[in-house]
Amino acid sequence: MGEHHGPAKGISRWFLTTNHKDIGALYLWFSFAMFLLGGSFAMIIRAELFQPGLQLVEPEFFNQMTTMHGLVMVFGAIMPAFVGLANYMIPMMIGAPDMALPRMNNWSFWILPPAFTILAGTLFMEGGGPNFGWTFYAPLSTTYAPPSVTFFIFGVHIMGLSSIMGAINIIATIVNMRAPGMTYMKMPLFVWTWLITAFLLVAVMPVLAGAVTMMLMDIHFGTSFFSAAGGGDPVLFQHIFWFFGHPEVYIIILPAFGVVSHIIPAFSRKPLFGYDSMVYATASIAFLSFIVWAHHMYTVGMPVAGELFFMYATTLIAVPTAAKVFNWITTMFRGSLSFETPMLFAIGFVVLFTIGGFTGLMLSIAPADFQYHDTYFVVAHFHYTMVAGAIFAMSASVYYWIHKWTGRRYNESMGKAHFWISFLGFNLTFFPQHFVGLAGMPRRIPDYALQFADFNMMSSIGAFIYGASQLLFLYNVIATIRSGKKDDTAKTWDGAEGLEWEVPSPAPYHTFSVPPQVK
Ligand code: CU
Repeated sequence: MGEHHGPAKGISRWFLTTNHKDIGALYLWFSFAMFLLGGSFAMIIRAELFQPGLQLVEPEFFNQMTTMHGLVMVFGAIMPAFVGLANYMIPMMIGAPDMALPRMNNWSFWILPPAFTILAGTLFMEGGGPNFGWTFYAPLSTTYAPPSVTFFIFGVHIMGLSSIMGAINIIATIVNMRAPGMTYMKMPLFVWTWLITAFLLVAVMPVLAGAVTMMLMDIHFGTSFFSAAGGGDPVLFQHIFWFFGHPEVYIIILPAFGVVSHIIPAFSRKPLFGYDSMVYATASIAFLSFIVWAHHMYTVGMPVAGELFFMYATTLIAVPTAAKVFNWITTMFRGSLSFETPMLFAIGFVVLFTIGGFTGLMLSIAPADFQYHDTYFVVAHFHYTMVAGAIFAMSASVYYWIHKWTGRRYNESMGKAHFWISFLGFNLTFFPQHFVGLAGMPRRIPDYALQFADFNMMSSIGAFIYGASQLLFLYNVIATIRSGKKDDTAKTWDGAEGLEWEVPSPAPYHTFSVPPQVK
């Protein structure tokens, strides 16, 4: 203390940092660690379901695995991954020196590891961890839950606090710190999608906090929000949860839309087709996401008018989503395409996400949903949107920007191997789940009838392949950082790259520069 005010050295640099790139890197590494943790839970699930009959874990532990897999992937892996990407990229993309609130930025990251330590710690507590699914429906999560549910609630609160602070920071940065001349309609699409995502976060994370607080009151303080015996209503929980939960899936997918809208133009050597319509489509999806929540609840016994409203509103989301897919395809149309790893993951994203979109349309049809509800068809659907959406887009981003981050090149053939192995493994895992779901196999059960055996074995083999391919990814990233080929030329292939050096006269972001190999 005293005279020396230089940057902190060693390990304390990472605890005390207010630098957006440091914090971005911390988020990215944390999310990857959570991805491996949540992935190992998935491996346990698929190992148990490898064949009929109980073989590996007790049903009680299996329930904890399905719950923790969902929670860790949604809140620990995917959301922090995109917040990390936002921290790293948004200031550079808009020509700002850092995030608007750097100290709060440090705080939003550093409360996350304790939150997830508490959450994962519940597995070792008396009665085990949360066992009620990632949607934690009351009264299952209040009346019949293990004592560790209180710690689960605490963990969700801290995690929600982190998300809200991160979102406020992103809004403050984008609204106040754009370089002169960068109007809203010149902003890079990743910035646009994150601005809209941040508003969704500020709107719905408090609703989630409300839901878990009401649970806490029901468990410890004698209220009956969700207990019919005390005058409450269990279905109320589902309304509150999904009012948070449906926008949440767009919180996960909108930043992915943003990065894909950067990568596809770069590898097509064309500007993005339909920039304005991309912005309006993103905003429309965000608006609609608030009025569709009860499509998760068609079977609770709603009035038919309610079923119809939520059905039509949900179907409407297909319109802006299709506009986006149209724009990506039209960007590629007659472009000078090349298929390096980021482009492979981006195209994989478009193809697989569209499949997930179509099954979503199937699920949105209320009378048909009675057949699919709580089956593996739903599991297949949302993994096509979440894994192929968020995880493929994150992989694409890392390959696309790692040179920018490290000044080194990743191993291209290993990257391509990562893509093809994970593409194969992913489809082998989740495509058969459509069939077993339509045939009636329920989700979240540790055992199943004999007629589902073959597809489940395929699913498990696919999951092991997909899981193993991520180790290739980890290896490639570490190898790039340690010993990747140094390359200080054209930092990356995206128009606004290097913007941080060119402030205050940014080019409109949706122009682009030509990738080095065709110069
Ligand atoms: Cu939904």
